Amino acid sequence: GAMVRFLSAVIPGDGIGKEVVPQAIRVLDLLEELSDDIEFSYRYFPWGSQYYIKHGRMMDENGLRKLEEFDAILLGAVGLPSLVPDHITLRELLIHIRQGFDQYINLRPIVLLDERDCPLKGKKVNDVDMIFVRENSEGEYSGIGGVFREGSSEEIVLQTAVFSRRKTQKVVNYAYQLAQKRKKQLTSVTKSNALNYSMVFWDKIFNECGESFPNIKTDQYHVDAMSMHMLRSPELFDVVVASNLFGDILTDLGSVIQGGIGYAAAANLNPERTYPSMFEPVHGSAPDIEGKGIANPVAMIWTVKLMLDFLGQGELAQLILKSIRQLATEGRKFLTPDCGGEATTQGTTDYLLQVIRKNI
Ligand code: NAI
Ligand code: MG
Repeated sequence: GAMVRFLSAVIPGDGIGKEVVPQAIRVLDLLEELSDDIEFSYRYFPWGSQYYIKHGRMMDENGLRKLEEFDAILLGAVGLPSLVPDHITLRELLIHIRQGFDQYINLRPIVLLDERDCPLKGKKVNDVDMIFVRENSEGEYSGIGGVFREGSSEEIVLQTAVFSRRKTQKVVNYAYQLAQKRKKQLTSVTKSNALNYSMVFWDKIFNECGESFPNIKTDQYHVDAMSMHMLRSPELFDVVVASNLFGDILTDLGSVIQGGIGYAAAANLNPERTYPSMFEPVHGSAPDIEGKGIANPVAMIWTVKLMLDFLGQGELAQLILKSIRQLATEGRKFLTPDCGGEATTQGTTDYLLQVIRKNI
C-alpha cells in the first residue's frame, strides 16, 4: 500500500518522563522497521520544569501554535515538586494543552493483563476490562474561582465547577458510541444526591442522549458507591463515563486493580481532529525513583497503543497490546520492580521488543 507518515511532537517533560518516553520511541521505531508502509517521525520539545526554571514558562509563549501541525503529541510526565509548585507545572503545560486543543475526552483503559497483578481476591483477567471516558476540559477543573478576604480569619475561597450542555453532550455521546462498539453497556458516574445543580444536569444529559441509543444498557452510580463497586465487582463495568474530577479519582483506583500505575495509560482526544490529540501515561514524574532506571515503561508504551488506535492503525495497536500482555504473563521477571519483576526500564523494553518481533 501507499506509505503513511505520522509526525509526532514529543514532550518528555520531567523526571521519569524522560526515562520512559525513549522506550516508547523504541517501540515505534521497531514498528517502522517491521512494516514497509509506515513511517514515524518526531520533533522534541524541551518543555517542562527545567525549562520553567530557565525561562519562567513551562512552554514557549506560542507553544500551542508550534504543536498545531502535528498528528499527535506524546507526553511523558511533568512535575518537579521540590522546585516548582504543582499547580504551575500542571496548569501551564498539561491543562494548557488539553484546553487549548479542546481535548475534551480523556480515555483510560483499565485492563487486567494477568491475574497475579490484581490485588482483589478471586478476580480473573476477564473481570477487569473497562474503559473510562472522562470529561477533560471543564467540570471541576475549569480553573474558575476566587479568593475573598485573603489571609484573614474570614477568608473565603470559591472553586467553581462548569458543565456546559454542549460539552457534556459531546462527552456522553462519545461514551454511548464507544459502548456501541463494545459490549453495549454504559455506566455513568454521578453524585446528584448532593451536587444538586451540576450532577442533576449531568444525569439529565445522560438520559437525553440515551434516547438515541435504545439498545445500550445503562447504569448510574453515585461516585462513592462506584468506588466501592469497582473494588467489589469490577466485572459490572465496561464503558464508564464520568466528570473530570470523578474520572480522575476513579481511574487512579482503576490503575490499582489492573496492577498499578505502571500500567495506566491515557489519551487526551480532540475527536473532531481540529487539533492534535495528546497521549500520556497516567503517572507523574515520580521523583522518588528518578534516575534509578527502574521506571516501568509499560504505561508509556500503552499510550502509544492508544495513539495508533486514534491514528487508524488498529492492527499495530493490537500487536502492542498483545505483546504487553505476553510480557505480563510469560515474561514476569522482565517486568520492573513495581510489578514484581527484576528488570530495568531498558530491560523491560528489550524483552517487549523481542516479543513484538515474534508476533508480527
Ligand atoms: P507519581 O505518579 O509521579 O508517583 C506516585 C508513585 O508511583 C511513586 O511512588 C512513584 O515512584 C510510582 N510510580 C509512578 N510511575 C511509575 C512508573 N512508571 N514505574 C514505577 N513506579 C511508578 O505521582 P506523585 O508522586 O504524586 O507526583 C510526582 C510529580 O508528578 C508531582 O509533581 C505531580 O504533580 C506530578 N504529576 C504529573 C502528572 C502528569 O504529568 N500527568 C500526573 C500525576 C502527577
Ligand atoms: Mg490523576
